Amino acid sequence: LATVEVDLSAIGVGEAIKVMWQGKPIFIRHRTAKEIEEARSVDMSELVDKQTDAERVQEGRAEWLVVTGICTHLGCVPVGTSDGEDKGDFGGWFCPCHGSHYDTAGRIRKGPAPKNLAVPTYAFLNDTTLQIG
Ligand code: FES
Repeated sequence: LATVEVDLSAIGVGEAIKVMWQGKPIFIRHRTAKEIEEARSVDMSELVDKQTDAERVQEGRAEWLVVTGICTHLGCVPVGTSDGEDKGDFGGWFCPCHGSHYDTAGRIRKGPAPKNLAVPTYAFLNDTTLQIG
């Protein structure tokens, strides 16, 4: 499918899901106010791949983070989406293959990965429907 529609209404605050789009895992996280604040308060000088949180989410929809779930090191699928999985040292995702830690904006913060998790093309069709692609 060229595009996939996702019903966001079942994803509670603090929860995340994984959906497949064009054969790739896409992570959708309904961020808490604290997670957004953590992502926004980071000093740019600490970032390997320097992007602000605002550049990675849509204006007015900062609670929704949508990223491609493929580690930018060698392509493993990071954990941290499902309940109880290790979210890494920065509260986002952890790639167990070689130890890359991503933050609550999906940015690489520690480990060998060179880039942030990629943000796919997506749009909000309404308040509860996300279209990926
Ligand atoms: Fe993720 Fe190497 S593939 S750290």
